Amino acid sequence: MNTKPYIEKHKDRFINELIELLKIPSISADPAYKNDVIKTSEHIKKSLEDAGCDQVEICETPGYPIVYGEKIINPDLPTVLIYGHYDVQPPDPINLWDSPPFEPVIKKTELHPEGAIFARGACDDKGQMYMHVKALEYLTANNELPCNVKFMIEGEEEVGSESLGWFLENNREKLANDVILISDTGMISKEVPSITTGLRGLSYVEVEVTGPNRDLHSGLYGGAVANPINILCDMIAQLHDENNHITIPGFYDKVEELSKEERAEMAKAPFSQEDYNKALDIAQEHGEKGYTTNERNSIRPTLDVNGIWGGYTGEGAKTVIASKAYAKISMRLVPDQDWKEITDLFQKHFESIAPKSVKVKVSPHHGGTAYVTPIDSIGYQAASKAYEDTFGKTPIPQRSGGSIPIVALFEKELNSKSILMGFGLDSDAIHSPNEHFGIWNYLKGIETIPHFYKHFATMSK
Ligand code: BES
Ligand code: MN
Ligand code: MN
Repeated sequence: MNTKPYIEKHKDRFINELIELLKIPSISADPAYKNDVIKTSEHIKKSLEDAGCDQVEICETPGYPIVYGEKIINPDLPTVLIYGHYDVQPPDPINLWDSPPFEPVIKKTELHPEGAIFARGACDDKGQMYMHVKALEYLTANNELPCNVKFMIEGEEEVGSESLGWFLENNREKLANDVILISDTGMISKEVPSITTGLRGLSYVEVEVTGPNRDLHSGLYGGAVANPINILCDMIAQLHDENNHITIPGFYDKVEELSKEERAEMAKAPFSQEDYNKALDIAQEHGEKGYTTNERNSIRPTLDVNGIWGGYTGEGAKTVIASKAYAKISMRLVPDQDWKEITDLFQKHFESIAPKSVKVKVSPHHGGTAYVTPIDSIGYQAASKAYEDTFGKTPIPQRSGGSIPIVALFEKELNSKSILMGFGLDSDAIHSPNEHFGIWNYLKGIETIPHFYKHFATMSK
């Protein structure tokens, strides 16, 4: 199999097609973009038909539609299910973008001398999802598809994949497969390919602290009543101890501890703390005592404030003690922590540390379970061989700190392993202003994916 000549011949069209897809602002979090999200699903349907799917449908759900497509060449052959998402994160803060988020432009960067496409969703996940559409085009146009393929592209990943759980339960047979293939993660670098073998779970909560029943003059009342913002900051500060350990009782009870050998294996992945600090412009790293940076952001659980507000934040000064203060808090979880249990532990603890002078309300948002996949499965081995074919190197297995909660559900509902072949880089700025995806990475993904099909079909015999 040599995918390169076809890609070389069609690469301008591949890039232009992705640019068209990126122009539609499919922001699932904001109801104002409802029509655009739906329009994107129709766009994907057409792309899948053009790429060679026999049958494509837009499946309605209680939320945004799921695009389902398939090409079944022989029911006796194995089936690969591709999962991806067509929704994107809100682009805010918009003033920090160098070019408008939904007007894609190609610019060269230090890491991407071939150019990178700058747009919201370029990497997460429109660009990576579309690599699979173009890989299918390659396979059908060249008569090289060695097995059956199904596509399931959803529009609610960035807001918790609520409808997808419902869809899985109701369509087990339709979605039956031998392996699930996903490109929605990253790799170590262009020179060091890696396969993501783990994702963290998540518990996301919002807290509200109420002091007096109305906003007060901070001179007349200051010092005599609890200021909910001060109290909230104090409570949040108590959630970590001096070793940056999380203080919620029971939080670590079920955390899977890795053996010395496993940690030594992890430490072999190339990493420079100096480059890491430099890329983020920080003088020193920070985190749980006793663990390295790569352990802190993958095999250890965390607790972070994602947003905090209250009181006066407008121009100039206003002397006020606010009645309420709020924060959004995420906890990234690892095997075998149960996100519902952790949410409960958080709630009990947070309520217990509140002084009597305030009232506290904890509202749980969404959550998800962590995932780890073994490297001796046929799926992993087929992916590994695919990278060997196109990078000339064996990829390094690496656990990621991000979450794709639906992956644990795939295992539970469909009984399938997910293989995470991500082609993004940490510097792609997903969820941030100026998100981009290297053209090299995009084309390399399209080049590599067909090799996965080839190896998976051969090894499944
Ligand atoms: N694609 C990301 C997750 C990701 C990125 C995993 C890079 C590993 C490496 C996904 O779209 C995402 O943003 N997930 C959310 C969770 C979701 C419930 C909103 C996350 O990780 O914050
Ligand atoms: Mn994603
Ligand atoms: Mn995302």
